[in-house]
Amino acid sequence: MAIEIISTGRAIPPRRVTNNDLAGMIDTNDEWIRSHTGIGARHLADSGMACSDLAAEAGRQALVSAIERGAVAESTVEALALTVDVIVLGTTTQDFCGCPSTACIVQDKLGAKNAAALDISAACSGFIYGLETAAGLLGVNARRKRALVIGSELLSHFIDWNDRGVCVLFGDGAGAVLVEKTAAPSEGEGRRGLLRSILAADGSGADSLIIRRGGSRNPWQAGEVVDTPPHLEMNGRAVYNFAVKAVTGTIEALLSDQRSEDRRSEDQSSEDQRSEDAGISIDDVVRIVPHQANARIVQAAAKRLGIPEEKFYLNIEEYANTSAASIPIALDELNRSGQIRRGDLIMTVGFGSGLTFGGNLIVW
Ligand code: ACO
Repeated sequence: MAIEIISTGRAIPPRRVTNNDLAGMIDTNDEWIRSHTGIGARHLADSGMACSDLAAEAGRQALVSAIERGAVAESTVEALALTVDVIVLGTTTQDFCGCPSTACIVQDKLGAKNAAALDISAACSGFIYGLETAAGLLGVNARRKRALVIGSELLSHFIDWNDRGVCVLFGDGAGAVLVEKTAAPSEGEGRRGLLRSILAADGSGADSLIIRRGGSRNPWQAGEVVDTPPHLEMNGRAVYNFAVKAVTGTIEALLSDQRSEDRRSEDQSSEDQRSEDAGISIDDVVRIVPHQANARIVQAAAKRLGIPEEKFYLNIEEYANTSAASIPIALDELNRSGQIRRGDLIMTVGFGSGLTFGGNLIVW
């Protein structure tokens, strides 16, 4: 049994805001943002839009693509949506605080009446966690065959636009993949689909990236006057240092099929040995698709691991950090432009609030 990605989709708000546009609003400039992050622009949703709007559109695009590519027997989006058994949505920016889940709203928008629906709260690692969750849900029940895994974020609605250290970093968007359980092998000769995932967390860093208001820790009080809407607070330096270690450790762990914590206590020679044992070397990986938080994080990790930077796909210049959406948006770009092809070995790697981190190894 293999868990294969059979199509991809994305939804990007049309409103494009460049660094120079921001420089007209706050004390920043294009040179600082580019040199510190690699970001050139971001796409921002209009105020009437919510997370489920982008998520449903990305999911719909994935369904359309599956039909157009002849990857499914169904010939209409409506018919295909009815065959989806699970919708897993990674997001930090749900339509509503607490309930209902945004995945349920997406299920309704798509007419995927037969699908179970759940949100994954793992911030920027949401898609990575979501893909593994969907694989598990398909794997444990013979009757479940298809899942939509979506990452969707409207972080612009949760940003203090006066905080120049944070607001320049983020953008809005959604990406989706349609996943199918197939009879192909997931191991050995001719293996296909999701080979393995690393899912990890370090909750001691929960304060480093946090939206403090609105939850059960700091609920709104009757009569309270709100000066600043709920917004993301970030300790940029702490997250940066964590992120470089998380990306480096996850890539090594995916190659060696070990948990990253186990790996840290090992010496280099045994690392090399285990990579060989697992039968995967970095040279076998066609593309690494990292979470797009900061080009410098990726460059630092590439340097530490001795991996050519070109192996990492970066589109942060156009979209900035779209959190859980960044990896599926990148996968859709690569897929539609033919830069990844059936049979290619692809690695995802990411990190985010929680703190969470992880990655997936996939035969496309
Ligand atoms: N424009 C101009 N100057 C700025 C800006 C800005 N937008 N932002 C900060 N500065 C200034 C600061 O005020 C400071 O000035 P000072 O030296 O006079 O005090 C100077 O630039 C340096 O600021 P630092 O915060 O030290 O800059 P640093 O080099 O650490 O870069 C950055 C900041 C880009 C945020 C970096 O720390 C980073 O990328 N961290 C990781 C962030 C991240 O990945 N977050 C997303 C995680 S995903 C998720 O879960 C949501």
